[in-house]
Amino acid sequence: MHIQTAAVHTLKDLAHGAVVPPVHLSSTFELDRASEDGQYAYQRGANPTRAQLETVLAALEGAAHGFAFASGMAATAASLSTLSVGDEILLPASVYGGTYRFVDLVLPGRGVTGRFVDDLGALSDADFTPATRAVFVETPANPTLRITDLRRISELAHRHGALVIVDNTFMTPVLQRPLELGADVVVQSATKYLAGHSDMLAGVITTNDDALADAFHLSQVAQGGVLAPQDSFRLIQSIKTLPLRLERQQQNAEAIVAHLRDRADIARVRYPGSHSEEEAAVHASQAVGGGAVLSFELADGLDRVAFLQALRYPAYAVSLGGVESLICRPAAMTHEAMTDEARRAAGISEELLRLSVGIEDLSDLLEDLDQALAAAAR
Ligand SMILES: Cc1ncc(COP(=O)(O)O)c(C=O)c1O
Repeated sequence: MHIQTAAVHTLKDLAHGAVVPPVHLSSTFELDRASEDGQYAYQRGANPTRAQLETVLAALEGAAHGFAFASGMAATAASLSTLSVGDEILLPASVYGGTYRFVDLVLPGRGVTGRFVDDLGALSDADFTPATRAVFVETPANPTLRITDLRRISELAHRHGALVIVDNTFMTPVLQRPLELGADVVVQSATKYLAGHSDMLAGVITTNDDALADAFHLSQVAQGGVLAPQDSFRLIQSIKTLPLRLERQQQNAEAIVAHLRDRADIARVRYPGSHSEEEAAVHASQAVGGGAVLSFELADGLDRVAFLQALRYPAYAVSLGGVESLICRPAAMTHEAMTDEARRAAGISEELLRLSVGIEDLSDLLEDLDQALAAAAR
């Protein structure tokens, strides 16, 4: 089954012939009075609506197990819950700012060290120590859109007994399926493309590993950061249009990249594969498109604030993946938790702007960018 079909047809044979699943709000469930067993007992452990969503999430990824959390960060934190005292995790310097915050401020209290690496693509055997238990990868990285070779990193990490955890938020399983490339765990902020309308927080973990699945379920039960039934239902509905939305968003993004590239009023445009021919070849070998996020800097002498004030359509807001375009300045917004030095090492300049492209009419978006660039040059 292709992913476009799985997005709408995974849940079949529903009670009463319904074509849309019901929402089960119950926090608690009756048990058999003699055996004291039941398929469900208490919502934190499992709930029929969340279970249906988790079935869809696993199907999209071709995974054995799916888990729905209350936010992307709850999912990321759960994905790191198997690390313990003395362990080390390797991460790219340009990782999402919230992940950086978790690794920088929370993991040390658990005796776990996060080591940030400037270029994951250059990782070699020498970077691993006996304490290295995991490598956390974002490809494309946020917001530099640098690419990491998932097959290579998985082979390297596994040689050293380390897990590979991939944050696939920017690609979704529509464009890239890391488990099929060797990764052990995929996390996503479903707040972004999966939900797609900038109207809910949600997070996802998928894996084929039964022991890790037990650990992630334990995290749901013991830490409680699970997705509520209404949001689980809304995410099931949103996922049905994910492939369509992303296709249109990616078409718009590709056209905007072509429009902004090689012009005097833009210093540099970043999009998956733009860093080097090698990264372009790697991305083409592991994903079926560049997605719908790009970043760029205005040329010297242009007024960034005037540009942002003149833009009519993209909201000046963090987040990405919604049907409406959003623009932000990572150094001040999504990545403000990083130190200046960490941002410099990651290649996130003060002037870098990140654009998440929506489903609007392309000519409206291009005209809007042109008139804002003209305003910035005045
Ligand atoms: C790449 C990436 N991973 C994880 C997260 C965290 O997700 P959430 O905001 O749903 O907690 C974000 C949020 O911006 C993100 O961009």
